[in-house]
Parts: sequence; C-alpha cells; structure tokens
Amino acid sequence: MTEKSSEMSDGELIEKNLAQLRLKPNLQGYDGLRRTFKWGDAEELVDWFPDGQINSVYNVIDRHALGERKDKAALIYDDGNGNVQKITFLEMYRETNKFANVLVKLGIKRQDRVFVFLQRSKELYVSFLGTIKAGAIASPMFPAFGPDAIRDRLLDSGAVALVTSSELAKRVYPIKEQLPDLKHIIVVDDADANAGEVSYQVEMESSAEDFETVPMDPEEYQFMLYTSGTTGKPKGVVHAHKGIVQQTLTSKWVLDLHDEDVYWCTADLGWVTGVVYGCLGPWSCGVTQVGLGGRFDPDLWYRSIQNHKVTVWYTAPTAVRMLMAKGDDLPAKYDLSSLRALYSVGEPLNPEGVKWALEVFDNKPFHDTWWQTETGSILITNFPEMPIKPGSMGKPLPGIEAEIVDEEGNVLPQGEEGNLVIRPGWPSMMREIWKNESKYNEYMRNGWYYTGDTAMIDDDGYFWYVGRADDVIKTSGERVGPFEVESALIEHDAVAEAGVIGKPDQLRGNIIKAFIVLTPGHAESEELKKDIQKFVKSRLAGHAYPREIDVVKTLPKTRSGKIMRRLLRAKELGLPIGDTSTLED
Ligand code: WTA
Repeated sequence: MTEKSSEMSDGELIEKNLAQLRLKPNLQGYDGLRRTFKWGDAEELVDWFPDGQINSVYNVIDRHALGERKDKAALIYDDGNGNVQKITFLEMYRETNKFANVLVKLGIKRQDRVFVFLQRSKELYVSFLGTIKAGAIASPMFPAFGPDAIRDRLLDSGAVALVTSSELAKRVYPIKEQLPDLKHIIVVDDADANAGEVSYQVEMESSAEDFETVPMDPEEYQFMLYTSGTTGKPKGVVHAHKGIVQQTLTSKWVLDLHDEDVYWCTADLGWVTGVVYGCLGPWSCGVTQVGLGGRFDPDLWYRSIQNHKVTVWYTAPTAVRMLMAKGDDLPAKYDLSSLRALYSVGEPLNPEGVKWALEVFDNKPFHDTWWQTETGSILITNFPEMPIKPGSMGKPLPGIEAEIVDEEGNVLPQGEEGNLVIRPGWPSMMREIWKNESKYNEYMRNGWYYTGDTAMIDDDGYFWYVGRADDVIKTSGERVGPFEVESALIEHDAVAEAGVIGKPDQLRGNIIKAFIVLTPGHAESEELKKDIQKFVKSRLAGHAYPREIDVVKTLPKTRSGKIMRRLLRAKELGLPIGDTSTLED
C-alpha cells in the first residue's frame, strides 16, 4: 500500500544563483562526479592509524584538538534557559579521554555495549564519544523512552553499562532486575550515587586526561541504534567505524559545511540524525555545533539562530510545519540573517515548506535530504549547487546507485512508482542487525538493499518519495513500529487486542491510531481511552502513544492470526481494501 505523500510540483523549479551564494559550495560539478567518483577518494577526508586502522572519534575530536582548531568552540551548548557553555575541541578531547579512562577502570572491554540515556547536555556528547574512543559500542537512547522501550534495548544488546541522570534513572529501576548483563549504572548529576551506582562526577574528577584512542579495524563497530520495522520489537542497527568516511563526506558535500560555519542540527542524539549530523559528521569537519536543550518552542528556536549566529540549520518537516503554523510575524522579530543554508530530513517535506522558507529566510529554500538509520548517512539529497524541485528528495550522492524496482528486482521505467533500492556496499551502510541475521537478510534481495520506501524517478533524474512499503509509522519524523505500540497496549488490563496504524496528519505527518478490542467487563469511555494513552506513554515512550483510539468488536486477521493493519488503514482512510484472500473470515 502506498501513500502519495508528496505532490509533484508541476514543473516548478527553484534555481540557484551560484554567484550569490555566500560561500562556494564544496561540491561542484555533480554530473561529472557521479561518473568519476570512487569511495577511495573520500577515504582521504579522514585520518587513519597505521595498518589501515581507524577510530571515528579520533577524526571527530582528537585530530582537531591536536591541531589548529584546538581552541575553536566545538560545542555551543545552550540549555534553553539562557545558560550557554562554549566547549573547545581541546576540552572535548580531554573530557572524552577522561570518560574513556572511566570505562577502562570499570573493566569495559572492546565492543562491549554502553548505552547513554540522557537529556541533551555536555555529558551526553562526552559519554557517547568517550565510549567509542575506548573501543566500545555506544548507543544513545531517546530521553522520552519509558521502561519497556529501555528494557527491550538493553536486554537485546546485552548492554553492560548505562550512563544516565538521577531523573531518568527512575525509569530504569523497575526493570533493572530483568537485565542480567547490566553491571554499571553511571549517574551524571549525583556526586553521592546510590549503592551499586557509579558517580560520573567523582570518577571524572580522578580520571587522567590522557588516553590513547583505540585503533579499530574499520569494520569494528562504533555505534548502534534501535529502530522500528513492521514486525517485532525494535532491531539493533549496527554501524562500523568506516562509516565516518561517508559521514564526513556528506557533511562536506550536502550540508556544505565550511570552517567558519556555526551549524545547528535540531535532532536528539536518540535518533540517527542526531548521532550522525548532530555529532559525528560536522565535528569530523571541524565545525562549531550548537546544542540546544529544552523542548520545541518556536521563540526559543528563532532566538537560538539569532543569538548563536547559526549559518547552517538541519531540521525536520514537522518542525518546519509547526513554525509555519506560528505565522510569519514571529520570525520577523528576530535577526535571522546569519543563515545561509537550510536542510530537512525524516519525512516528506511539503513543497509549501520549501517555499515558505524562501519568504521567511531571505530567499533560502529548505534542502530535503533522504536517508535512514540503516544507511548511516545521507544517500539522496538536494545539493547546494542544484536547482530544487519543491517536494522532491533530490538526487543520489555520487557513489550511490539508487533505483526503483519491482519485487523481483527489475528496474522500472522512469515515472513509475516502485521499491526504492540501493546497491549495497557504501561505507556507512549498517553492518548487521544485532544478533539477527535473518532480519538483515530481509533487506537484501535480488542484489539490492530494499529501503522499505516506495518512490519514483522523474525525467530529470529527481527522486520523489511516495510512501512506506510496510507498516512503519513516521510521526513527527520519528520512527515507530506498530508492533511495539500494540504490545504496550495489550499490557493494559482493559485491552484484549490491538491493531495500530499511522493516520495522515497535517502537522505531524502521521499520528498513531489504535483500534482496540476491550476485555470483558470494560466499557468504552473517554476516561478509559485517556488512561490507556497515559499507560502507553509511561511504559513505552512519551511520543509513541496513540493520539486516537477506536474501540472495535473484532480486528481483521489472517488465518494465521496476524492483524491485517492494511485493512484497518484502508477502512480508516476510505481506500480500496485490496486482496482479502488471506482474511480469517
Ligand atoms: C523516511 C531518518 C520522505 C523514510 C534519517 C525512511 C523520508 C525513514 C525522508 C527513515 C525524506 C527519511 N522524505 N521520507 N526526505 N527522509 N524519510 O530510520 O520513510 O528514522 O525510510 O531515519 O524516514 O527513518 P529513520
């Protein structure tokens, strides 16, 4: 089932006047590069240890701290309440060294899993990067996660350590007994941590500032992130150190980062965008990054651009729509003239959003970028030098072979909708689904990596997003699996069965909608629905709860008992219901 999410904008084109761009784009001559570029060329963008070994964080932090950028601000951390900290590359180097030493002292070994569950803060970046330095695998978790989501991730990965705050740690206590591998809980804001916990402050104070960043095989892992599919619990998508090659290249070519930029990525580190483009890639380019604490707030966001003189901004369509909804008077109150380039990712960016930016940000359009947790960096995008067709995701990165194919892997003619696939082998591609080979193999068919998205290519080679080929829900740009929400729902006393779908929504792209069958003895009421919503929020995650709940008598199922979400969706949206030959009754 496809959903036509982005309307083709009838031949509309936003031309670029290259002479008027404030800085010359790093990538010029796209068509030529697409023919001549080899991945080997990009390997020169990063530093290697002898014998072809590498550590992504040596590139992200150390090489700048040991060179000319040592006193340059790496991070401008703004807590959202007017407190601003500037942290130089040298300070980041020392802090991450100290944290790596803390892990070594705790006995953390090469490729052990260390999870970071923190609100945005200096400590979040330090512990994430320090973990990778030490040769362990780092995994950040979104601070909105509840106990169920945390347990699933720590259990599946066999995490040995968790870095958290005293506030967020409260969500870990109820499940701690279920996590036999979890040996250390490191609490950042608690000088006298509870018995059995490690105080970050105390350990960091006594930790040495020198550390030899561990040389890794390029195929060893730097980070993992759990992400959702159609079936089952979230899967651990694992990324190798070699990915830094492409993460650096795309920060240069797509985000077009230059040394003088002040760059702001609004994504949390719990999502791949935050990890790759709110941490690794831009710092590998030696660029100053803004980190903003607090919740989404239009005033705060515009103020952040103004106060920190942000030049390059990477955000998400839902945020763009929320800013649009606030009207154009608000941005007019701020000096946003520092901005020179805008980018977006995560869901279709409506043509209106692209064009709104032209008006509000002095003729600068949003550049839509397409990629996934699994791809590890941007693969299809609008480049600075290229004209934009509003609503299109742009064109493949040089080095990337992307096509539209059918289920047998046959390439479809231009203009036809089908599966968006990529030829495997790019440097930042996921290396495995943690301990789940069969899941990994599901992506790899007919010699292609199947993205799970459907799309089409137009006559000019621009790619247009159509929808998901599966049941994955994108709500406010965040990826949620229906199964996780269904599992949380049926843990509630009143819920016997649940089916969950994404329902298109003007603002959020999609909202989560649940159809539930009640257990005997429960009657439908608004109060009950609210209680169920609250239950899912607190168990699973603050953002992954059903905003709409319909009580039904039965759910459509296949003869093998699988809920047919396709039918729920078709019925909800008034779409044709399609093939029902596998329906139970
Ligand atoms: C969707 C986010 C339309 C898509 C980096 C993809 C997009 C999923 C775009 C991956 C875009 C991402 N236009 N849809 N420009 N970018 N998506 O893993 O469905 O959280 O498969 O990675 O987001 O979501 P994920």
